[in-house]
Amino acid sequence: MTSSTESGDHPRGAGPGELDDLPPFPEFSDDPGDGYGGDPYDGPYQDPAGGPDDGPNDGHGLAGLAARGAEFADAGAAFDAGAPGGGGPGPAARPPAGTAQEVLNRTFGYPSFRDGQQEIIDHVVAGHDALVLMPTGGGKSLCYQIPALVRPGTGVVVSPLIALMQDQVDALRALGVRAGFLNSTQDPDERRLVEAAFVAGELDLLYLAPERLRVEATLRLLDRGTISLFAIDEAHCVAQWGHDFRPDYLALSLLHERWPKVPRIALTATATEATRAEIAARLELREARHFVASFDRPNIQYRIVAKSEPRRQLLHLLRTEHAGDAGIVYCLSRASVEKTAEFLTANGIPALPYHAGLDAGTRAGNQARFLREDGLVMVATIAFGMGIDKPDVRFVAHLDLPKSIEGYYQETGRAGRDGLPSTAWLAYGLQDVVQQRRLIDTSEGDDAHRRRLGTHLDAMLALCETIECRRAGLLAYFGQPAVTCGNCDTCLTPPESLDGTVLAQKLLSTIVRLKRERRQRFGAGQVIDILLGRRTPKVLQFDHASLSVFGVGTELGEAEWRGVVRQLLAQGLLAVEGDYGTLVCTEQSDDVLRGRRKVMLRREPERPARAARAERPPSGSGKAARQAADLAPEAVPVFELLRAWRAATAKEQGVPAYVIFHDATLREVATARPASLAELGGISGVGENKLAKYGEQLLGVLAGHQD
Ligand SMILES: Nc1ncnc2c1ncn2[C@@H]1O[C@H](COP(=O)(O)OP(=O)(O)OP(=O)(O)O)[C@@H](O)[C@H]1O
Ligand SMILES: [Mg+2]
Ligand SMILES: [Zn+2]
Repeated sequence: MTSSTESGDHPRGAGPGELDDLPPFPEFSDDPGDGYGGDPYDGPYQDPAGGPDDGPNDGHGLAGLAARGAEFADAGAAFDAGAPGGGGPGPAARPPAGTAQEVLNRTFGYPSFRDGQQEIIDHVVAGHDALVLMPTGGGKSLCYQIPALVRPGTGVVVSPLIALMQDQVDALRALGVRAGFLNSTQDPDERRLVEAAFVAGELDLLYLAPERLRVEATLRLLDRGTISLFAIDEAHCVAQWGHDFRPDYLALSLLHERWPKVPRIALTATATEATRAEIAARLELREARHFVASFDRPNIQYRIVAKSEPRRQLLHLLRTEHAGDAGIVYCLSRASVEKTAEFLTANGIPALPYHAGLDAGTRAGNQARFLREDGLVMVATIAFGMGIDKPDVRFVAHLDLPKSIEGYYQETGRAGRDGLPSTAWLAYGLQDVVQQRRLIDTSEGDDAHRRRLGTHLDAMLALCETIECRRAGLLAYFGQPAVTCGNCDTCLTPPESLDGTVLAQKLLSTIVRLKRERRQRFGAGQVIDILLGRRTPKVLQFDHASLSVFGVGTELGEAEWRGVVRQLLAQGLLAVEGDYGTLVCTEQSDDVLRGRRKVMLRREPERPARAARAERPPSGSGKAARQAADLAPEAVPVFELLRAWRAATAKEQGVPAYVIFHDATLREVATARPASLAELGGISGVGENKLAKYGEQLLGVLAGHQD
């Protein structure tokens, strides 16, 4: 880790309700005062496995083992995934879990672990604490799900993502895992069912909102079952200066005090050194081993283009490369979210808005549609996306500059979780810099906080203006070895670099003269008009045509000059101030003006998006092109048949299509055309439960195609 700064970007300082970074707290909150906070044992439910005075549970209790053994006796019984959509405990029994490798193969249907997973899983299975850093979509869930299945008892997962618990549990139950959750969305009957299953040792995984743990009744409930481990997901929420701080996370250190022998695993995709230290300290993870996986997401193509008409540029990208694909478009403001969603819809691209200004019902509805339907575009503020495990998001587009590389990386990481090629596209312009600087200047908090925000922004700007590999820049930011990737815009169409010292001098001296000779400051627009020698009304009004620098910059056009301004800002040779984004010199500007410092600039390719596209699969829409690239032509119709079968099955069960099978799995089925259940079971993503449930149907679809 090289970065020593925290993610100090507290969203509620952003401004008077217009910009929105996070949902208002209730979105994620699970208010225990909602009528569910009473003692769970005040109802008619009687615990069959012992009373509340069984004593504290250390996760290795014999009672728990015995309960597990008893349930194994039923292993021959059919284990159904349970009623879809229900909050109930799911299948009542399952065969012995076996080793981590066996669980991976049989339950999840994956042939091999991803980088780092095995080590982490072994460590937790052995009963040790762990702090896990893995990129968004990297595969953190398996790191606690598999140990929870291998160890006796129930894995208790603390997650702030209430709205996603149902989907997470549905996905696990589709795999034959006995999972349940407790949160405020349930009615008391559903809740009692889950509690009973937990106490009876019939749950492999129990998801809880952190707020639940404030309630003594929840703690007493946990005392009555056998806990195999605590998983603290999205652990960066404990970091006070983090971008997702949740006060309830601070209370999680009590887990350690109350259940000292139960292993804890904290997981996050927020990677800076400072955040990691803060997580370890606040959760009292003193003995925990830290696991830092590679942050590379090789299937994501990173592209950053100069912003001119952002919505048109976006439309062009979607039409030429991502027709019919699901994706996320991030905008800074709510108004821009609304406008962009309307614009896309009006242009024939189905899009939904998501921001904290929408009521909870609309947000939940739009999120559910995005997860369930194929090919929808979600236009959102960064309030959207944490923990979303939609595997087939094919692009993440940013229409505004993210505030930090951490934020950018988390947001772009939502693309391509299935490992298939995906695009991370960002349009960025001078106005973004001005706007972000203004936000920082007016943000709440002390100077140190503002400096920290400034450092984050500078790193983001440097990434935008680099002429080197973007991926190498990103990985270097996370302190990881850089490789030139061949799959980012600067690798695919290397920008030229030129000696821009004279250009910089012209620009800086215009600013200096305005200040010295006129005691004036202006934004980039006026400065560029002066350089270009334009006699605009404003130039005439201020008599700027009489400045000696008037018209000295005609070798560039306006767009190119804006590029120069942007790059000087990114290099710290220029700064913006105040509400109007006036340009001012910095301490380093002087060296340039005196010729003591050379300035290298990046020459904007004429049409960067188009240039990069030439490297992409030729012809047709994105989807068709990619399928042609990945699938043999004869496999394409089979794939489409399989998708149609999946859509019908998902609809019938009321779950997202990817809960049935991922695209990547159907692709492999379409290519390999397995002729038997045994062959089908060998395909990645086909575990035992899904094989038993859908195997014959899939073979039927394949056979039907052959006729
Ligand atoms: N060993 C594996 N083989 C194949 N697929 C895997 C493997 N491990 C994880 N995956 C898949 O990778 C995807 C992302 O995994 P997961 O949801 O655990 O990501 P995450 O690290 O929690 O990301 P986030 O930070 O966004 O929550 C899932 O769809 C999962 O099924
Ligand atoms: Mg996750
Ligand atoms: Zn690259």
